[in-house]
Amino acid sequence: MSKKIMLTGDRPTGRLHIGHYFGSLKNRVKMQHEVDECYILVADVQALTDNFNNPEKVRNNVREVVMDYLSVGIDPNKATIYLQSEISEVAELTVFYSNLVTVARLERNPTVKTEIAQKRELFSESVTYGFLGYPVSQAADITAFDATIVPVGEDQLPLIEQCREIVRKFNSIYGEVLREPEAVLSSTKRIKGLDGNEKMGKSLGNAIYLSDSEEEITKKVMGAVTDPNRIRKDDKGNPDVCMVAYYHNLFSNEEECSKVCEECKLGERGCVACKKQLANNIIEFLRPMREKRAYYEEHLEEVDKILYEGTLKAKAKAEVTMRKVKEAMRLDYFNELKKIDDSFSRQ
Ligand code: TRP
Repeated sequence: MSKKIMLTGDRPTGRLHIGHYFGSLKNRVKMQHEVDECYILVADVQALTDNFNNPEKVRNNVREVVMDYLSVGIDPNKATIYLQSEISEVAELTVFYSNLVTVARLERNPTVKTEIAQKRELFSESVTYGFLGYPVSQAADITAFDATIVPVGEDQLPLIEQCREIVRKFNSIYGEVLREPEAVLSSTKRIKGLDGNEKMGKSLGNAIYLSDSEEEITKKVMGAVTDPNRIRKDDKGNPDVCMVAYYHNLFSNEEECSKVCEECKLGERGCVACKKQLANNIIEFLRPMREKRAYYEEHLEEVDKILYEGTLKAKAKAEVTMRKVKEAMRLDYFNELKKIDDSFSRQ
């Protein structure tokens, strides 16, 4: 039986929010117990592809993201949390793989295409080579660890497909060295923002962060978008177009949800009361995470040690893959030279 190796990660460009939790973190916490090996990377090099002019931002968010992982229940004894920039093998693999993918294919990648369009300001003249090529480096992230399972959000599917193509191409030319990974989608898809936007995002200002204080949560929920046709408290409401009802479905129990919706439809419950109840439920839901985070904020040296040790372990694993890849690609001449190194030095 071949080993189940899971790998996934995030760009450290901000703290993680409840969209990340339902979209991927929750699934990772469960899956870390179900696989043989589990790697979670803090993708600082990838974060620079669209933040190259803001290295401080990336640097400052590395530890934040690690604390988010630990606070939701990623267990460093089960999952190896590591820093991408220390795995130089990944950069080497990226160069090797760049021969196996065309520029046209990268330009057609739907995720990359959408992102370039969104980043018009940054790439006004033309997209950088690094950004266009980030699917290649992501393929290196995955294959350096021989990963078979990659839990990601829907938007990442084209990147996994691109990785699979690179693997097939590599194996057809150099021999069966790499394994094709599979994407695993979590059951909850994308979470909408408090403003009703289809996506919750740090750049959109509509997110509840896992590390938000009780006051911040309440304030944000009070500002959530409700049924625009419901003006007076006793107007009959439509929960289908209300973000508060949408969030009740995620954070409140079934009985509460149906009661809230019924009373809203009958005009018997005001939005303010409904929001307060939701805010309390979110506060309770996130409480264990906030408490765990508070512990780590008091023990930053523990956080750093987890990342340091994880990175050393990850590096050792990537080195093994690198040796196999170089041999298959006949980049192995130096090994021969090393063998005769002794005789050179004797001369
Ligand atoms: N692209 C991912 C994101 O935007 C982060 C990432 C980098 C990743 N390397 C990866 C995800 C490898 C899965 C596997 O969040």
